[in-house]
Amino acid sequence: MTTPAHVAIIMDGNGRWAKARGLPRLAGHRAGVEALRQAVRTASDLGIGWLTVYAFSSENWSRPQSEVSDLLGLLKLFIRRDLAELHRAGVRVRVIGQRDDLQADIRMLLEEAETLTIANRALNLVIAFNYGSRDEIVRAVRRIAADVADGRLSASAVTLQTVSAALDTSGIPDPDLVIRTSGEMRLSNFLLWQAAYSELAFLPCYWPDFTPELFKDTLRQFGTRERRFGGLVERDPVSSSA
Ligand code: FPP
Repeated sequence: MTTPAHVAIIMDGNGRWAKARGLPRLAGHRAGVEALRQAVRTASDLGIGWLTVYAFSSENWSRPQSEVSDLLGLLKLFIRRDLAELHRAGVRVRVIGQRDDLQADIRMLLEEAETLTIANRALNLVIAFNYGSRDEIVRAVRRIAADVADGRLSASAVTLQTVSAALDTSGIPDPDLVIRTSGEMRLSNFLLWQAAYSELAFLPCYWPDFTPELFKDTLRQFGTRERRFGGLVERDPVSSSA
C-alpha cells in the first residue's frame, strides 16, 4: 500500500448520525470526537506524516448559538483531555485558520498545544479551526500586497511559491488525499489552493462511523490510483519546481 504523506479529512455527518438515532446533535459531535481520536491513532500507526482535520469552518458561526458553543466546548475539552496523550505519542499539533477573532481562552489553548508539541516528530496533526479557504487566501493576498506596497517584493516576483508560503499551511505539504464523509461531494471551502491535485474520496458513511478499517480501506484504494498532476508522470509540478 502506498501510504500518503498527507491526508486531509472533512469530518461531516455528525448531526445526521445523531438524528438517525434520535439523539441530540451534541451526541453526534461527541461521537465525532471519538472518531477523530481513532483516526489520529490510525494515522500515527500507519506512519502518515500529516493529518489535517476540518474541525470548525469560518461558516460554522452561522449555526444556532447553542451548537456553536457546544463545538467550541468540545474543542476545549479535546485539547485539555487529549493534549498530554498526543504529546506522549510524539504528535505535533498545528492550527490553521483565522485566530485573531477567537475568544482569548481558546486562542491560549491552541497556542499551548502548538508550543508544547513543537519539537515532536511523529504525526503532524493540523487542526483547521475557524478556517475557510477563501478567507485564508484573502489574508495571504493582503500580506503579499503589503510586501509589494512596502517595496519588499516586486509584483512580477510573485510566484506559486510566494502564494503557498503566505497561506496558513506554509511549510505543510499539499494533501495527497482529501476524504469527506457523509456522502456530500464538495470541498466546502477546505484547502482549495492546496487540494489542486489531491485525490478525493467521498465516503457514504457519517463521520462517527469512520472506523480504522474504513480509513485503511480508503488508503488502500488511494494506493491504486495513478496521479499525473496534469502531466504524464507522477510528479507534482509545484513542489518539484520549488
Ligand atoms: C460536521 O457535522 C462536523 C462539524 C461541523 C465539526 C466536526 C467536529 C467534530 C468531529 C467534533 C469536534 C472536534 C473538535 C476537535 C472541535 P455536521 O454537524 O455538519 O453534520 P450534519 O451535516 O449531519 O448536520
